[in-house]
Amino acid sequence: MLDPLAVRTVLVTGGTSGIGLATARALATQGVNLVVLGRDPEKVKRVRAELVEQAANPRVESAVCDLSSGEAIAAFARRFLADHEELHVLVNNAGAWSSRRQLTPEGHELTWATNVLGYHRLTRALEPALRAARQARVVNVASRLARGLDLGDLRFERRPYDGVAAYAQSKQANRMWTRALARRLAGSGVTANAVHPGGVDTGLFFKGGGLKGLLGGLYMKLFGRTAEQGADTVVWLAADPAVKGQTGGYYADRQRRRCAFEDEAAEERLWAALEAAG
Ligand SMILES: NC(=O)c1ccc[n+]([C@@H]2O[C@H](COP(=O)([O-])OP(=O)(O)OC[C@H]3O[C@@H](n4cnc5c(N)ncnc54)[C@H](OP(=O)(O)O)[C@@H]3O)[C@@H](O)[C@H]2O)c1
Repeated sequence: MLDPLAVRTVLVTGGTSGIGLATARALATQGVNLVVLGRDPEKVKRVRAELVEQAANPRVESAVCDLSSGEAIAAFARRFLADHEELHVLVNNAGAWSSRRQLTPEGHELTWATNVLGYHRLTRALEPALRAARQARVVNVASRLARGLDLGDLRFERRPYDGVAAYAQSKQANRMWTRALARRLAGSGVTANAVHPGGVDTGLFFKGGGLKGLLGGLYMKLFGRTAEQGADTVVWLAADPAVKGQTGGYYADRQRRRCAFEDEAAEERLWAALEAAG
């Protein structure tokens, strides 16, 4: 049962597939004003039409933004803020990994740009609408596959590039960043929590390419959860009255978990690095 006060306007990133799509569908079914954000205009248009029909909810909008680009996020945020004064739930879910080292035109390693800078930039840009909502929630889809964050070598210039290592460093950052964000939002009524959705059978692993992508994708096909199961704790954190006011946590299977990366000084260094990246 969703909290009718907490859920009004909801933005789900990466809503075109996997956990994001399942989250979007679950929330659309509850009648919220939903903005589904994707990077592919045709795909996001198709998903919007499906959600409107499946959820019998005409209040579903689509939005297009490449979250690996600071410029694209700034342009999207301007449009969003012109149309919406308040944002009650932001689900930072869009994520990617790549078996091949790639740099964005802005010079960031692609996985970092999408999974970490994307969360940070979008949340910072939409912060006025979150604060205006007074009671709002930010849910960051992180992972248990988290390790090896090296703020001195985010682009893998000193370390040999490895797609899983780049992904794991980004997911460690998601968890640490959530706590830094929660500290800044304390007292505003806006909460921020991170979630591990479990191992989920989505296209994520195949999309990254290479042998590890193939093996990871096949493993998830055999042993992974469905996207709906993966979305369960995400939706719960986004909208359930049971977690009202809870902030700065790391959750899995609807339970708050100990996070091995709790370290305020390190979290603040990460925050400063993200602010400096612009
Ligand atoms: N699957 C798992 O086992 C697992 C485990 C732990 C955590 N997670 C996390 O769960 C989240 C969702 O992943 P998933 O498994 O559902 O994978 P997925 O099906 O591949 O979904 C990822 C979503 O992110 C979007 N996306 C990727 N790069 C983007 C960009 N630059 N700009 C905008 N959107 C972008 C994708 O768009 P397209 O549809 O255009 O590709 C897609 O909608 C990720 O943060 C992932 O790290 C997944």
